Amino acid sequence: MDFSEGFLWGAATAAYQIEGAAKEDGRGPSIWDTFSHTPGRVYRGDTGDIACDHYHRLEEDLDLMAEIGLRAYRFSVAWPRVQPEGSGPANQKGLDFYRRLVAGLRERSIEPMLTLYHWDLPQALEDRGGWTSRQTSERFAEYAALVYEALSDSVSYWITLNEPWVSAWMGYGLGVHAPGRRSTADALAATHHLLLGHALALEAMRSSDNGNRLGITLNLSPVRAASSEPADAEAARRVDGNANRLYLDPLFRGSYPQDVLEHYRAASDLSLVQEGDLQRIAAPIDFLGVNYYIRHTVRATVGGGTRELPTGMRFADLGAETVLPEGVQTTAMGWPVEPDGLTEILVRVKKEYRDLPVFVTENGCAVYDYVDPEGDVDDVERVSYLEEHFRAAQAAIERGVDLRGYMVWSLLDNFEWAEGYSKRFGLVFVDYGTQRRIPKASARWYAEVIRRGGVGT
Ligand code: FCB
Repeated sequence: MDFSEGFLWGAATAAYQIEGAAKEDGRGPSIWDTFSHTPGRVYRGDTGDIACDHYHRLEEDLDLMAEIGLRAYRFSVAWPRVQPEGSGPANQKGLDFYRRLVAGLRERSIEPMLTLYHWDLPQALEDRGGWTSRQTSERFAEYAALVYEALSDSVSYWITLNEPWVSAWMGYGLGVHAPGRRSTADALAATHHLLLGHALALEAMRSSDNGNRLGITLNLSPVRAASSEPADAEAARRVDGNANRLYLDPLFRGSYPQDVLEHYRAASDLSLVQEGDLQRIAAPIDFLGVNYYIRHTVRATVGGGTRELPTGMRFADLGAETVLPEGVQTTAMGWPVEPDGLTEILVRVKKEYRDLPVFVTENGCAVYDYVDPEGDVDDVERVSYLEEHFRAAQAAIERGVDLRGYMVWSLLDNFEWAEGYSKRFGLVFVDYGTQRRIPKASARWYAEVIRRGGVGT
């Protein structure tokens, strides 16, 4: 068995996707409240107003985690609960919720892993430019300092940002996520200010040296060309530049990839990057969080426009589209199931960037789950998906990757962003009308994996 004794087997969630209680205890509006309440933005007009009502069902959900035997739980703090207007002193009632959550985890010997930003920017900051404004990076560092002051004694693992690619490109470039802007220049500005925000937050947290571990989570996708045609190889390089290198290079090398900058030159010259920014962004992190869902198989498209892709991923202005490799199964999201892509990306980070502690901070799949007449949810697809991905993680460890833990997405079925409640990712089924929780077959299977320390050979 290659998973060590202390391996952090866990599950993940995010604030807006599960908490509900959107107006309680002083919480202010976020860009996701605005977006989900705008007709036509989210499937069937779903919103996170109630979601899994986790805010009111904290104890029950903590007990569920203990029942599965989780060693770790990754959650995010809602910035608009802590700073309803995005700046100023902390709203103590907002922080209290997370104090209770962390205390409840500690009582159950579950290691908390805290994400500061999982996409719920206070609307007041979006009104002043959002992530296209450098001031948002500064506000983010102030917010990080407030949360750190409240919880640094009881939380050891800190993640600044979740998936800056998604925030920048889905939110500002393609407009399919909040705040719904469609501008390549805005997506590039958001990319830089998110990374700068990460850097400033890290500096703010590092000023108190208490041995906590600080990192960032990226969604990484290996990219392959669909054929040996040079045009497809070029398209794959462009997609890799946008999806992976645009984030890995600044964080680990202190520079943006030249080919990506050149490709976008007409949209933006990135003159907003100031002297010293990149050195700060490249400051050492204690671990990297990797969210793995998808490998891209890419071919060139004629014309450079924005395309909607069959795999649910989209790229702006790249002249590229993804195809489904032959014989590959897809999940309910339409995403191809390619577990060896996880091994591939983890080994690449180690070889091409840095050999550092890594966590899979998200991996999982959407299944067309339902409660059968016996009252069970037999999600056999999820069990085999996870089993194959755990083996792929094991293969990465065998190849020397310093993998320290694995957070399954997700603990609960939840608000899947633009897909609303139509896509279920949970180990635990949520009947939204009654808020009843029903552990799926995968939850029982995962409990056994954790107990045995792996999937065996
Ligand atoms: C990731 C998000 C997470 C969830 C999964 C399915 O991109 O970080 O919140 O929606 O996808």
